[in-house]
Amino acid sequence: MKNRLMLALDLPDREKAEAMASELAGDIGWFKIGLRLFVAAGPELVRSVLQTHKVFLDLKFHDIPNTVAEAVASAGALGVQMTNIHAAGGPDMMRAAADAARSFPHMKLIAVTVLTSDPMPAVEAKIEAVRRAEMAREAGLHGVVCSVHEAAAIKRACGHDFLTVTPGIRWGGQSANDQQRIADPAFAIAQGADYLVVGRPILQAVDPRAAAREAVAMMQSANLAQTKA
Ligand code: C5P
Repeated sequence: MKNRLMLALDLPDREKAEAMASELAGDIGWFKIGLRLFVAAGPELVRSVLQTHKVFLDLKFHDIPNTVAEAVASAGALGVQMTNIHAAGGPDMMRAAADAARSFPHMKLIAVTVLTSDPMPAVEAKIEAVRRAEMAREAGLHGVVCSVHEAAAIKRACGHDFLTVTPGIRWGGQSANDQQRIADPAFAIAQGADYLVVGRPILQAVDPRAAAREAVAMMQSANLAQTKA
């Protein structure tokens, strides 16, 4: 299960990111490098993390098709195993990005459907997320970023192999922070999420390693229950 847990390394600099990555090295399969850290520490840090772990480069590209396709190719050349674009960029942009990603078979390209922080009512968010996921699948992408609450509907619409990567994970009364559509690790697995993205609940925990292990334990018990059912 730890290979389905992605830690969002939302930290200010390379030193803090490497310290956190090495503290959690044995407990987490993927590190997600997003805007804050990439702007501060760049491709060099990505290469360093790639020596030991898989990397999801979460830069959410959203621009004209040619620019996004070239950015996706740069991510592929960097060697990351996953990167993403905004589905709101539309079908032409997604097709150009998917074409570029084909040259890098080690890398999954996924689309952000509706941000888990978006205050859109849940019913509307689900309809919009499924619509954007179908568009992403038709454009040739491997999957989407969505909330746990949309994962099962997206799997039904787009097929079991279409990846769902779910942020907005919280458990045990943790603060939702700026997230709107949250769920705990067990529910995420039960809904068929392929990867769980967790940031502040681990980064800001008194004991980040214990928090990561707690998340993995909840994922394992949900997976076991699913296997038995
Ligand atoms: O700290 P928290 O667990 O809320 O972190 C969630 C991470 O997932 C952040 O890095 C955020 O940028 C990212 N993310 C998200 N919602 C999306 C896509 C990515 O929260 N739709």
